[in-house]
Amino acid sequence: MERFPKTFLWGAATSSYQVEGDNRNSDWWHWEKKNKKSCSGEASNFWHDYPEYIFWLKQAKLNSFRLSIEWARVNPKENQWDEGALYRYQEIILALKKNNIEPILTLWHFTLPKWIADKGGWENPETLIHFKNYIRKIKALLDKEIRYWLILNEPSVYIFKAYLEGDWPPQKKMNIFSALKVRENLIKAHQEGSRLLKNRQNLISSAFNLSFGDPVPNWNPINILIAKILFFLSDWGFMLQTKNDLDYTAVNYYFHDLIRFPWQIAGGDKKSEKLSDLKWEIYPRGIFEVCKKAYQITKKPVMITENGLADKKDLKRESFLKEHIFWLNYAFKTGTPIIGYQHWSLVDNFEWSMGKTPRFGLIEMDYKNLEMKPRNSLWFYKKLIEAYSEKV
Ligand code: BGC
Repeated sequence: MERFPKTFLWGAATSSYQVEGDNRNSDWWHWEKKNKKSCSGEASNFWHDYPEYIFWLKQAKLNSFRLSIEWARVNPKENQWDEGALYRYQEIILALKKNNIEPILTLWHFTLPKWIADKGGWENPETLIHFKNYIRKIKALLDKEIRYWLILNEPSVYIFKAYLEGDWPPQKKMNIFSALKVRENLIKAHQEGSRLLKNRQNLISSAFNLSFGDPVPNWNPINILIAKILFFLSDWGFMLQTKNDLDYTAVNYYFHDLIRFPWQIAGGDKKSEKLSDLKWEIYPRGIFEVCKKAYQITKKPVMITENGLADKKDLKRESFLKEHIFWLNYAFKTGTPIIGYQHWSLVDNFEWSMGKTPRFGLIEMDYKNLEMKPRNSLWFYKKLIEAYSEKV
């Protein structure tokens, strides 16, 4: 085994809306109320209890943490900035750094300020102007503190859920050509956002949801064609289009897509013995394939910014970690520069339209009293990190 260097970023990932709680000015908050869906409410209490998160990160010897800023919290109304919220984010980042935990900061993770959503959200090209104002504000606050930025999270997943499938706000079922226009606006958001943020020492990416597409059999021309179409419509295509504005390649790896026309055009093997609580196939080798291919395309070092599973009873998380990190290390020793691994997630959180039922956390959240209870897999992850890290 070739160990990862001391500089390797071992961590866990979260997003603001999913963990902070009480994000009343976000489009999702209003949508939850209107649809009487399971509510995020206090979520996992990060906003009030972030020191406890830092405590557990330290206990597990993690040296990095992915988090995001909730645009609606700092910019609740047009031309209005919440200085208190900005100050709190700065305080959180400084506290992480003081504890030698590298923050990896996302600027947009699926949610919008309600006032932006009312003006058409990412369908409206003007949103870019507001997004850039928001970036300017955050840059003024955190430019010196943040090395690893993520402009967007999984833009193609968002387009699919919000504009094609209609499961997430604004719940539209557009035709593909209209959805591609939304995508154009997000591509510009990445490109112009990253140019605004760039300085000599920071590293910029967006987090791409890259699945391992596996045509079966792989010589069948229809399967090959479907794989190509999926590639361009997914975050693979988004990554290709933005590769000149990436300093590193942030990869969220969850899925194995089996393509065996006419029976199946995407999604994993549902008959597999290895399924998560959400019946997602667990396919560890895919992390190697995806990292290798992403690096071939971007030529920029790869960081896993999400990888994890819903496993309430914590029965499969240890083997999940063990096997994924094995294959990640295999990618590293066979020539793909891998600079970090952020497990999704540090703690159970609000899983979008599925509410609080799926449990992705290394730490369990007791939603009744907002208590954090580490699962055994948190300690297993700690040991794995020791085993895979270069000794000094
Ligand atoms: C998203 C997270 C989500 C996770 C698990 C990713 O696609 O970035 O927000 O919770 O998957 O579904």
